Amino acid sequence: MTITNQQSGTNIHEVADGIYRINTPVVIEGAGGFTFNQYLIMDEEPLLFHTGPRKMFPLVRDAVARVLGAQSLRYVAFSHVEADECGSLNEWLAAGPQAVPLCGSIAALVSINDLADRAPRALADGESVPLGVRSVRWLDAPHLPHAWECGFLIEERTHTLLCGDLFTQGGADLPPVTESDILESSEAFRGAMDYFSHTTQARALLEKLASTSPTTLACMHGSAWRGDGAGLLRALADRLAA
Ligand SMILES: [Fe+2]
Ligand SMILES: [Fe+2]
Repeated sequence: MTITNQQSGTNIHEVADGIYRINTPVVIEGAGGFTFNQYLIMDEEPLLFHTGPRKMFPLVRDAVARVLGAQSLRYVAFSHVEADECGSLNEWLAAGPQAVPLCGSIAALVSINDLADRAPRALADGESVPLGVRSVRWLDAPHLPHAWECGFLIEERTHTLLCGDLFTQGGADLPPVTESDILESSEAFRGAMDYFSHTTQARALLEKLASTSPTTLACMHGSAWRGDGAGLLRALADRLAA
């Protein structure tokens, strides 16, 4: 793990082959420690999954630059429209002339065609995007855990599911990647702050994600996780139904 900003504690760590987690710990008043993660997928056409909040842009930009070097970012992707997902989208577009927003078709239709300074590439459910030796595939997941436009990306070479807010763990002092259970800590977080929409489609959507057989779950908040991702997603479906 490399610290890229001493003051904020922003750090970067390779959680799967060529996939880097950029992490910034914070303290939220009244809620305690928390973390914001972004994931950089390195390839001929590098992709960043979620930008981080707009005010964190310099921290994330500097961390990304450590790995990118002279290469420029091609895709700025995100799950849904919130500050931590795409708050600095336009800053990234301004910094990278090759960079294009990458999101689901609902996000493009409802928000990003208007909000973004460069037209997005809008993805249909199941659509694949080649990055070079790798590809990512978009999976619509409306309202799971929240937002109509929500969806996720699976990186098919390393079986890394960029799972956004699913399995959000509180705390600011967590390892970059863990093989220990994260369901209980994420369920404890949900118990305190239930950010799920409770869509009736949750089980079917989690089953769709499970069908990609992920072995790394790239969580936006907390540790990334390594293990039987399908099993963990199904366990979450059971907990949501309980
Ligand atoms: Fe969210
Ligand atoms: Fe989030």
